[in-house]
Amino acid sequence: MSFDLVLFGGTGDLTWRKLMPALFQAFRHGSLPGGGRIIGVARDELSDDGYRELIQSRFEAVEGAKRPTPEEFKKFAALLYYQRMDLSRTEDYAKLAELLTQRDASTVVMYLATAPALFTQVVEQIAAAGLNGPKTRVVLEKPLGHDLASNRAINKAVCKVLAEHQVFRIDHYLGKPSVQNLFAMRFGNALFEPIWRREHIANIEITIGEDLGVEKRGAFYDQTGALRDMVQNHALQLVCAIGMEPPINAHADAIRDEKLKVLRALKPWTPEAIGLHAIRGQYTAGTAYGERVQGYRDEPGVDPESRTETFVALRTEIANWRWAGVPLYIRTGKRLASRDAHIAVNFKPTPHAIFRAPTNAFNKLVINLQPKDGLELHMLAQAQDGRHRSNNGHRYAGPQLAPVQLDLDFDKRFGSERVGAYERLLLDVIDGRLNLFVRSDEQEEAWRWVEPLIDSWASDGPPRPYAAGTWGPSASSAMIARDGFAWSEEL
Ligand code: BG6
Repeated sequence: MSFDLVLFGGTGDLTWRKLMPALFQAFRHGSLPGGGRIIGVARDELSDDGYRELIQSRFEAVEGAKRPTPEEFKKFAALLYYQRMDLSRTEDYAKLAELLTQRDASTVVMYLATAPALFTQVVEQIAAAGLNGPKTRVVLEKPLGHDLASNRAINKAVCKVLAEHQVFRIDHYLGKPSVQNLFAMRFGNALFEPIWRREHIANIEITIGEDLGVEKRGAFYDQTGALRDMVQNHALQLVCAIGMEPPINAHADAIRDEKLKVLRALKPWTPEAIGLHAIRGQYTAGTAYGERVQGYRDEPGVDPESRTETFVALRTEIANWRWAGVPLYIRTGKRLASRDAHIAVNFKPTPHAIFRAPTNAFNKLVINLQPKDGLELHMLAQAQDGRHRSNNGHRYAGPQLAPVQLDLDFDKRFGSERVGAYERLLLDVIDGRLNLFVRSDEQEEAWRWVEPLIDSWASDGPPRPYAAGTWGPSASSAMIARDGFAWSEEL
């Protein structure tokens, strides 16, 4: 099978940081189908060789084993081509069409790694140039719009010229091995299913913490914020993976149908619920990696008066028979205490206690997503026997339980150099596998759910400040404490 992969935004940030490294790894692993071309598209005046040199110079900055050797790069460079284009000019699409017909590859992938404001225009021009035939697949990077209306407008324009199965909406969290493991854990094992419900689960916590600040993306981030950047997509996809019913098979639409039902079942926001159960914060100066770091408003590209949130904590519920009444906590932010993404499923305590056990030490399943990838099952075991002194000084007999955990480390078990998220997703696009991509109705439903928060925060005061290097504003702990629970690091 031959392919042409056209990278719109071929000299942009995403191409350098994610796409080229992922394509190179796929090439190195021998998983890129032979006879393919990777065609960078941008405005710059460059020849094919000039583009290859540019990419080589970027790879030279890569450290460690991910950096290609000169021999490897030479072979990889043979796949690289460049096409200068002004994306507003019809003639330039005609030139692209000419380049693509030279080879007549069996699959043509158009990867839109450009500003989302250009998506509609590019897709319409692709169609006008006759490049939307059955062998074309279009990849759309997030963010797909900035609210429900703009998301719908993009989807409408795209669906006018392409069938849904030709559209690959990326949420790179779905490409992470740890997230695929979550599906494997739930639907490849019978063990958890009987207890995966409100009768046994006290609450679920999803944390996606980043220790980095906004880095060089201040201007973009200031227009976006944590709700749009992380919650509407990555966090809600995790909610789906945790909360969905078992699909009837592993085909894309069977999976996406079930995910959609979860999104539809999320409790709608009311003004009271927003006041109580939606906390937003913004980092101020603090400490990261043992060094003093500046606050968000001092970051380059950020408005010094900015009201953009860099932290969000929410309490919601999946209102259906399986989950009604189980609090679902979602938390994400920049410049938090550590880079740590995990899901903690906290089980209910025993119905009747015959042993003495530490408070707060209930059964818990922790799904670690990053930096480590694995499962921890927290249980209570009898650690010692005999007589113990109780808090009030009296001695009592009987077993004392202590928390222990089963720890399954997938990095150790399968190797930490597994196929990365972008590598997986790019190969899936080339192969036409849609399982790990988001359908338009899922995406719209996710926007619909976050929109009341966007609207309410737009007319509300500034976010709560939190010092860089902490777990966000104290209101986030207070919110969960009102239910009698605590975030996992506070236990
Ligand atoms: C991106 C966001 O989608 O995900 C970034 O735009 C964020 O702001 C990134 O840093 C996090 O991805 P990962 O894979 O590093 O957890």
